[in-house]
Amino acid sequence: MKIVLAYSGGLDTSVALHWLKQRYDAEIIAFCADIGQLEPLATVRERALATGASKVYMEPLTDRYLRDFALPALQAHARYENKYLLAAPLSRPLIAQRMVEIAHAEGAEAVAHGATGKGNDQVRFFTSATALDPGLKVLAPVIDWELTSREAELAYAAEHGIEVSVSKAKPYSIDTNIWGTSIECGELDDINRPPPGHAWQLTADPRTAPDLPEQVTVGFEGGVPVALDGDKLDLAALVTRLTGLAARHGVGRIDIVESRIVGFKTRGIYEAPAATVLMAAHEELEAIIFDRETLHHKQGLAHRYAELAYYGYWFSDLRRALDGFVATLQPQVTGEVTVELYKGSCTVVSRHSPNSRYSDSLATYEAGDTFDHQAGAGFAYVWSLPIRGSHR
Ligand code: ARG
Ligand code: SIN
Repeated sequence: MKIVLAYSGGLDTSVALHWLKQRYDAEIIAFCADIGQLEPLATVRERALATGASKVYMEPLTDRYLRDFALPALQAHARYENKYLLAAPLSRPLIAQRMVEIAHAEGAEAVAHGATGKGNDQVRFFTSATALDPGLKVLAPVIDWELTSREAELAYAAEHGIEVSVSKAKPYSIDTNIWGTSIECGELDDINRPPPGHAWQLTADPRTAPDLPEQVTVGFEGGVPVALDGDKLDLAALVTRLTGLAARHGVGRIDIVESRIVGFKTRGIYEAPAATVLMAAHEELEAIIFDRETLHHKQGLAHRYAELAYYGYWFSDLRRALDGFVATLQPQVTGEVTVELYKGSCTVVSRHSPNSRYSDSLATYEAGDTFDHQAGAGFAYVWSLPIRGSHR
């Protein structure tokens, strides 16, 4: 049997690699997706081979992640439960997709991942992989094995000579990619306390962030962020630069008690500095460009889009159809938005688009007003007819 394992080089997936190989007497192909995580990836290949992998795929997938997953979600304004910008859930279908592609290329009959049974990620990996190929087995060793604690995993690693770099207990479960970081578990499970300062991984504490605000102008072409302060940048470079800038000002933190797919609520904190700025800027641009009905309809779909991404229903007809709606509108979304970053806040201070519907002469209450006030009064009369006298 051949198994393709999504491998990070950490404790869980290193133990998983060894365990799967023994349990199924299998050949393990380790696949490591580089999507901008914080851990250094330099030693991952050697570690996978030393732990028993027959082959290692180390793949730079940041561009594909941003283009095919993060960008559509940005353009859809997807925020789960009004807050969460979905960095982790957007990466799962990509990882699943590459695992399935590699399984096909290698003639493997199973794919495997290191997520736990009570999490969202195992649902997303399973759902994504089986949407792409219902005939593949999806193995979740962490769910199947008898290693129920971190100590048990460390003991297993020591017993089998598996090299792990972690020595001191890591107090949180952290998942990072270029779009954002998620931090869960430990002290965060007490929902009556604010997150301890040291839990945050990327962003400055807004209280000690610079006392001077900083402005940055984001340029968009056809809905795609293409420039920062006039410098043309590809998406990965733009997101990286913006992350540094916004993180310095403590921008992009959220603290949420979220409704998991598997039925219970958990508390998590998330940092997505660049995504927060880009979402604010993109929303602002759409607000001046789209007519009211299009704008409101799109706002309603944003929740649905976020649910589908969070639920692991990326490879669904509905997500594709919603993307079609969003994509049809994006060619208009060209222009520039300037935001001010200051102690955790990101405030739009200026917006400009050649496609703007904003009209000074219609909006003004001063000289130069071109709005027909008589037509406005007639409109008010007709508008009122359906509900005249209806409040009893
Ligand atoms: N609860 C978050 C989500 O469902 C976090 C998942 C990321 N994984 C982790 N090990 N922290 O998107
Ligand atoms: C896990 O339990 O594997 C991580 C958290 C999640 O998937 O929600």
